[in-house]
Amino acid sequence: MIHVAVLGYGTVGSGVVEVIEGNKALVNKRALTELNIKYILDLMDFPGDPYENKVVHDVNVILDDPEVSIVCETMGGVRAAYEFTKKALLKGKSVCTSNKEMVAKYGPEMLQLAKENNCNYLFEASVGGGIPIIRPINEALTAEKLEAITGILNGTTNYILTKMQNEGAKFEDVLKQAQDLGYAELHPEADIEGFDACRKIAILSSLMVGKTVNYEDIYTEGITKITADDFVYAKAMGKSIKLLAMSKALENGTLAMVSPCMIDASSPLYMVQDVFNAVLVRGNMLGDAMFYGKGAGKLATASAVVADVIECARNMDTTLPIFWDAEVEKLVDIADVERAFFVRAKAADKAAVLAAFGGAEVVEVAGRDDFALVTSVMKEKDFAAKYEALGDKVITRIRIEA
Ligand code: HSE
Repeated sequence: MIHVAVLGYGTVGSGVVEVIEGNKALVNKRALTELNIKYILDLMDFPGDPYENKVVHDVNVILDDPEVSIVCETMGGVRAAYEFTKKALLKGKSVCTSNKEMVAKYGPEMLQLAKENNCNYLFEASVGGGIPIIRPINEALTAEKLEAITGILNGTTNYILTKMQNEGAKFEDVLKQAQDLGYAELHPEADIEGFDACRKIAILSSLMVGKTVNYEDIYTEGITKITADDFVYAKAMGKSIKLLAMSKALENGTLAMVSPCMIDASSPLYMVQDVFNAVLVRGNMLGDAMFYGKGAGKLATASAVVADVIECARNMDTTLPIFWDAEVEKLVDIADVERAFFVRAKAADKAAVLAAFGGAEVVEVAGRDDFALVTSVMKEKDFAAKYEALGDKVITRIRIEA
């Protein structure tokens, strides 16, 4: 029997207990041993909860119990989570986490500690909720040189954009729905400003290059400026607008960024709707492979944590290889990256805007007092100079991802 502790009995933590108990027979079979939830750490009590007698408030009860060999860190944040994870690993207890902030910030440190203490630090649930993506990169795609990872990595924003596109819904109303469904982060700006997707692409980029891609170095733009009007044009152009988190191996280095982008109907990411996430991985031998599924929500995320627990149970006293060095990967400056841009402007300013973007393709929708254009491919910095010079003659711009 292996004893497990769950740190944090919130959405994901209670989901972990539900998955282990709900799928008990098959989880035990696949873990090759019985998993027993011995403790649940939380600040609160849960009177009436079937596991209320497992709840403890002092982490030392868990850390000092030699019987506990696997800890699920589903607390979130990086203060207490950092301290508890570190202490658990130092005692040789494996840690399975859904905490992307922790992994993005302290991944290499925790992996090193796990190595030194013959245990594991696994984080499948930190990216893409229930979608298997970390283990595929670490195990199934090890023969590949990964050239690009492009993901829809935030369920809340994808849910919002989908509702805006399909129902013309208002941003605030849909955000509230996503919060009620348990998809959103505690502070909504983490989702809508792209910070959550940024942490996740930092993790995937680090695994892609085998070094540390600091999330602070990643250019990040959220979806707060996207409006229903932009979707009118996207639709007319046969495109959609998605919050993309991207990492690419370019000739002069690694590009990583998060930004709303227009993508074509021919992109495999086009049909990813609602809370679903997808990660499109390009390998130099394999070509493209896409991983798709529920990127947020209690049981989907908890399922990935429990899969990591099972992996730990099968590999007691062995540290599974994860190639992520502490050395920092310097990123390419996005100012030098080339792409086309969608620009929307007032019809009255058409002449001035077209003059600035010579050779652009014009898009018009009948009965409107605005128009749009798609620029030729140009460097971000050249586009930015023209766009800024136009001032309030332009309403918005969106990157186009080929
Ligand atoms: N707030 C996150 C999302 C939860 O919407 O994707 C999963 O990380």
